[in-house]
Amino acid sequence: MARLVIVSNRVPIPKSRGATAGGLAVALRDIMTPGSMWFGWSGRLTAEPSLQPSLVEARGVTYATVDLANEAYKHFYVGFANGVLWPLLHFRLGLMHFRREDYEGYLAVNRTYADSLIKVLHADDTVWAHDYHLIPFGRLMRERGFQGPMGFFLHVPFVPPSMMEAVPVGRELIEDLCAYDILGFQTEEHARDFRDCAERMVGATVDGEWVKLNGRMTRAFADPIGIDAEAFARDAGRAATDKSVQRMAGSIVGREIAIGVDRMDYSKGLPNRFEAYASLLGRYPEHQRKIHLLQICPRSREEVDEYRKLRSELDRLAGRINGRFSDFDWTPLRYSTRAAPRSTLAGLYRLARIGLVTPLRDGMNLVAKEYVAAQNDDDPGVLVLSKFAGAAQELTEALIVNPFDPDAIADAMHQALTMPLPERRERHLALKAKVYRTTAALYARTFIDALARRSVPKLAA
Ligand code: G6P
Repeated sequence: MARLVIVSNRVPIPKSRGATAGGLAVALRDIMTPGSMWFGWSGRLTAEPSLQPSLVEARGVTYATVDLANEAYKHFYVGFANGVLWPLLHFRLGLMHFRREDYEGYLAVNRTYADSLIKVLHADDTVWAHDYHLIPFGRLMRERGFQGPMGFFLHVPFVPPSMMEAVPVGRELIEDLCAYDILGFQTEEHARDFRDCAERMVGATVDGEWVKLNGRMTRAFADPIGIDAEAFARDAGRAATDKSVQRMAGSIVGREIAIGVDRMDYSKGLPNRFEAYASLLGRYPEHQRKIHLLQICPRSREEVDEYRKLRSELDRLAGRINGRFSDFDWTPLRYSTRAAPRSTLAGLYRLARIGLVTPLRDGMNLVAKEYVAAQNDDDPGVLVLSKFAGAAQELTEALIVNPFDPDAIADAMHQALTMPLPERRERHLALKAKVYRTTAALYARTFIDALARRSVPKLAA
């Protein structure tokens, strides 16, 4: 029987009945019907890993995982995926450290994935790979004889040829992407940048969304990811009973909250956000003692130098802001590096008058959509959103800011804090309609439909 096989570096094996899944697991929930498979890394490193995947079944879905070799993983994950591709795709060429041995390790891990998956794959399966860890995976599967439909979705942004050309293996990456039948991007801009790279760097022919290279056709299109808005809104409504939310509500005593929730990553613009908050308190002193910024930023990728540096920078900035503005009974910035359960976050979003989503560059940013879904329709908060998050293409009724300008973020925060209720409601209603329209279910269904229709149209002569 034809199965859907999802491939991603991290595999969200459900841990317990009550655990709330996030991100990709939510996005794919509707299409992960019994019988489907999710394949990727087990999370374990061993000296000589076996290629035979271990299988675990949960709710009818088979989770197939492989261990990786220590050294190869370091080159793959720390060196190439997060030392080259992540900075490159987030427009940070200055942070990119290219080493040939890292690219070799990246290919080696992709070969391990392909060799391992091929052992459990059926000829009529449909394969859907996710994110920048798996760019060469499609080609490697084709080389191993797999002929079935194969798609790839990039969760992060893409770059124009002028940036892609800076990577010594840029051509190889573009050619590898062309081995997939369907390529999904978060926005039309990213899809177009990919098609431009294919045309300019490897001489592909482009016709509308279709890219033709060496006789193969690939469709590169925008399929923005969404959330399960209804479920998230329900969680937010129920969260009044959540202990952490109650503690937070009890401690703010009539003050407003601005909330930021981000993995601790340099693409999220956190230092600028902290600076913006200082600018708000400095330039609009009427808000002093009347607001808290709650920044939740779980630590991430600490094996990579840049992430460790960011942590100390944020510690320093947070100390400086609290040192400068706090009072006996008011700590302006509350900053936590621990992850919070999604249901707690839903409740905290609902309490917050401002949702701060100000990345320097971001594929989509689902926090923006979750913040909107969590609001109380009668008294909604205001979303302050970076123009460089994919979400800004859709959520145009947010207060859109340039995240490189801390004073502009501060001005938007002031506008949010003084915005009359009718305007807040009007903006919220428009945003909510969009978040309920481009949902997780629509995203997954659109991609699967595109894969099913992978048949090739004629290119204009
Ligand atoms: C981003 C990427 C994902 C990645 C996640 C966490 O959202 O798009 O592919 O899994 O960050 O990063 P990590 O390096 O911990 O997997």
